[in-house]
Amino acid sequence: MGSIEDRVTERALATDPDRLETLFGRSDLHPLWIAEPYVDLAPPIKAALMERAESGWYGYESRPDAIHDAFWGWMQRRHAWDGSDLHTSVSPSVGTSIGVLLEHFSAPGEAVILQPPVFTDFKPLVRAAERRIARNSLQLTDAGYRMDFDDLRKQAADPATTGMILCNPHNPVGRLWTEEELAEVAAIGAANDVFIIADEIHADLVLSGGRFTPFATVAAGSGVRWAAIHGPIKTFGLAGVCDTLLIAESDEVTDVFRKQSSRLHLTRNNVFSMAAFQAAYSRGDEWLDELLDQVAANTSLLASTLPDPLAIVPPEATYLAWLDLRGLGLAVPELAKWLAAAGVAFSPGHWFGREGAGFARMSIAVDAEAVAETVERLRAAL
Ligand SMILES: Cc1ncc(COP(=O)(O)O)c(C=O)c1O
Repeated sequence: MGSIEDRVTERALATDPDRLETLFGRSDLHPLWIAEPYVDLAPPIKAALMERAESGWYGYESRPDAIHDAFWGWMQRRHAWDGSDLHTSVSPSVGTSIGVLLEHFSAPGEAVILQPPVFTDFKPLVRAAERRIARNSLQLTDAGYRMDFDDLRKQAADPATTGMILCNPHNPVGRLWTEEELAEVAAIGAANDVFIIADEIHADLVLSGGRFTPFATVAAGSGVRWAAIHGPIKTFGLAGVCDTLLIAESDEVTDVFRKQSSRLHLTRNNVFSMAAFQAAYSRGDEWLDELLDQVAANTSLLASTLPDPLAIVPPEATYLAWLDLRGLGLAVPELAKWLAAAGVAFSPGHWFGREGAGFARMSIAVDAEAVAETVERLRAAL
């Protein structure tokens, strides 16, 4: 089986051996930088994939209704959300959905609001669509990260601003936006006719008694135009095999997606994706409960063992630890070098926008020994 380091490293390098070298200049690092679970994946999903592989039939196959039912059953069970009257379309990736929505609901040169520090793909997607980025930076307060609503109102009031990508829960800062905060976003969107794309791909990763509020539930009746994105890819570590979902209330969103889908042939059914999707949402509960317990325990472990001046910004959701390394007093390039010299590969905070300088993101969907090993390396580097 090998050491913990070997196990984590093997998993992380299994598909991409040169990546650490390219990104961090060394390949012998403890790699926890991708937002993936670095643990054994859910047995029912593995079994479904094996079964599908053994079937020997990988041709065309239509998507069964059971997929839709499995997703909405899961949402009801885990989040008390019944959205089965909403339109649900299958999309190959979150990025595809965002790209299609930006194309239709904004025009080149218009501005799209992002809330950095935020998931790295949003900015290139907006840029690739030839839209501008309007920064509504998150504010780190004594109580954790907060949205700057005064600034959001200002940005949204600009007639050139036509879209916003909301990350709920937020990667990398781990906020689980409250109903009040989301209602405020919906109200601002409605008042200024800003289309809200709610990326809710981390929805299932709710920690310590928190509650995920679907944007759909606050959007209802607010007059805002919106779409939400879901799927099992992050929760269950299925980004290499699984599709995602685009949820909407309006026929317009669904029609736009359907048209683009037909035009570009976006959604040929993948038999492995269907098998994984259905298994995850109908038989993934027990595995996820265990993972969430592990992540909560890892959060406490980090909080109690990270040596001064390193600290964790406690996450309310996601399996990502947002580490506050500002106490080291290092500039962006020096901090990256310091982490590599310590023997760890985290996503440096500035990848998520300049607001992330001095921070780093670490996946804590790992066993406790991997967290302890990471802390040891950081302590030794100090
Ligand atoms: C918030 C968020 N959205 C989207 C993605 C990736 O989605 P996709 O690869 O389907 O575009 C990630 C991956 O880490 C993510 O954290």
